[in-house]
Amino acid sequence: MVSTFQSKSTRNARIRVATPADAGYIATIENDAELKRFVGGATGKSEGDYRRFLETASDLRFLIVESSTSGLPVGICGLLTGFFSEDCEVRVILTKDYWGHGLGTEIAGALRELAAELRPGKRVTAKIHPENTGSLIVARRLGLTEDGTTLSHPYESWIHFSSPSATPTI
Ligand SMILES: CC(C)(COP(=O)(O)OP(=O)(O)OC[C@H]1O[C@@H](n2cnc3c(N)ncnc32)[C@H](O)[C@@H]1OP(=O)(O)O)[C@@H](O)C(=O)NCCC(=O)NCCS
Repeated sequence: MVSTFQSKSTRNARIRVATPADAGYIATIENDAELKRFVGGATGKSEGDYRRFLETASDLRFLIVESSTSGLPVGICGLLTGFFSEDCEVRVILTKDYWGHGLGTEIAGALRELAAELRPGKRVTAKIHPENTGSLIVARRLGLTEDGTTLSHPYESWIHFSSPSATPTI
C-alpha cells in the first residue's frame, strides 16, 4: 500500500509516519523484552535493519506515537496489511510509563479510523495473546469481537478479534 498518510492527531497524541531517523527508537522498542512479551518477543533486528526498511517503506507498519504535550515519542503503532494481513490489523506498543491512562484505547481508536479511511472494505482486526489483559480490554472497548484462536507455536496461542463489518463507523 502506498499511502499519502502523514499524521493524525488524537486528544493526547500525534500519530505520524516513521522516517529513517526513527530507526533507533523503533529498534529500542522492538528489542524491549517486556514491551514485546506478548507481541512476539524481541525481534533482534538492529537500528540499521530498521533504517534500511524505513528508507523504502511504503506501508503503515511503523508509525510513531508522540505525546502532544512534550512532542516526544511515547510508543509505536501500525496497520498491518497486504502480506501481513488479509484485513487491516492494528497494533500498538506504548512505553510502560504511559500504560493504564487510556492512551492505548485512544491510539487504537485512531488506527481504526485510519483503517476506514485508507483501507475501505477491509475489516479491522487484532491478534492478541490470551494473557495480554490490557490489550484484550482495549480490543473489546473498540467493539472488536473474538472470531477464533490459532496456535502459531507449541506454547503460544493468539486470540483473533475483528470488527463486525468492514470499515466500521467510529
Ligand atoms: C496494550 C497497551 C497498548 C494498552 O495501552 P494502555 O494505554 O495501557 O491501554 P488503556 O489504558 O487504554 O486500557 C487498558 C485497560 O486495561 C487495564 N489493564 C491493563 N493490564 C491489566 C491487567 N493485567 N489486569 C487488569 N486490567 C488491566 C488497564 O487498567 C486499563 O483499564 P482502565 O481504563 O479501566 O484502567 C499497552 O499496555 C502496551 O503497549 N503493552 C505492550 C505492547 C502490547 O502488548 N501491545 C498489544 C499488541 S496487540
